[in-house]
Amino acid sequence: MTQHQPLTPAPYVWTAPPLGEATSAHPRFYTDPEVFKAEIAHIHLKHWFFAGRVEEVANPGDFKALETVGGPAALVRGQDGVLRAFANICRHRNSILLEGKGCAHSIVCPYHGWSYELDGTLAGAPGMREVPEFEKPPHGLLPIRMETWDGAIFLNFDDAAPPLSEHLGDLPELLGSHRFGDMRVTWQIEIETRCNWKLLLENAMESYHTGIVHAATVGAQKSMSFPTRGEWHCIQVQAGSSIAVLDGDPPFPPIAGLSEQSRKGTYFTLIEPTTQFACAQDTIWWLAVRPVAVDRSVLSVGGCFPRPYTELPDFEERAAPYYQRWEAVALEDVGILEKQQRALGSVMARPGPLSWRDDMVLAINRWVLSRLPAEVAATLT
Ligand code: FES
Repeated sequence: MTQHQPLTPAPYVWTAPPLGEATSAHPRFYTDPEVFKAEIAHIHLKHWFFAGRVEEVANPGDFKALETVGGPAALVRGQDGVLRAFANICRHRNSILLEGKGCAHSIVCPYHGWSYELDGTLAGAPGMREVPEFEKPPHGLLPIRMETWDGAIFLNFDDAAPPLSEHLGDLPELLGSHRFGDMRVTWQIEIETRCNWKLLLENAMESYHTGIVHAATVGAQKSMSFPTRGEWHCIQVQAGSSIAVLDGDPPFPPIAGLSEQSRKGTYFTLIEPTTQFACAQDTIWWLAVRPVAVDRSVLSVGGCFPRPYTELPDFEERAAPYYQRWEAVALEDVGILEKQQRALGSVMARPGPLSWRDDMVLAINRWVLSRLPAEVAATLT
């Protein structure tokens, strides 16, 4: 295995143009439906995105239906114990098959009753015996590429994309001591927002706004930035104890065996293009964004704790302040971002100078711009 330098933080990481000359992106980056269309085709349908945790579909027959940027999908654990991802679409005339979460012996279409095994094979197609040359095997559920890292499930609509491990680069090295694989998801919500997907993620990767937007909750924060290898970015908000709760001592102790760097604060990561894991000393929570339209996105927030914590008799009572904090802070962010989206639509909106504390905003802008076709990127400069 290749040895790499340990990730060390810096006040900010920056690439050209020099600090002092960098500006925020063109307002149309966030408002132009043509840019959004290009982002869907060239970014979202070509990169890994977060779809949930393996413990949500732990047992044979367990399923979870979810909306994705590529349409309805389903995670299904087969009778053979193998977890698979499918397009959640019937092969007859494209009805949705599964809704929500549950456990099933087979998948039956609610429209005309075609049925599928949990491995996606078409099992029954009423009335189709009379159809000349109809055969079941070519009409199984369509698989979606899936990989997992430490219990986190990622999907990718591009079969030619590099493997998840390559995408994650050195992220597992930095987050390894949190042992995400030994955690359990215990809470999740979805928030519908009226803003562009990039605004949610840019905001989640800078601490510049925290003293203003979150004055009533988490307050002003200081962060350090990490140069990374792979398709991800990282900052760490410096704080000696968990910032995943608002007041007093955190209800849970620090995770056993955390690295020295991990004990210094909370990592906020962005796995491009839409997945954030926030890793405090006692918990990991995610922010995952699903782009819906150029000015609409769905923000999913979920919280995970080490499994032994979740088995404590007073776990729910202890975990409640974390859930309250995550939801309150997310709603504060959504509030300011919807204001930003409204203003970006003005004919008077224009790029403004960036602060050194906007280093990750610039990094995210550059990552997206570099993946758009040249003719689209050229309209944004
Ligand atoms: Fe599913 Fe007809 S659409 S059986």
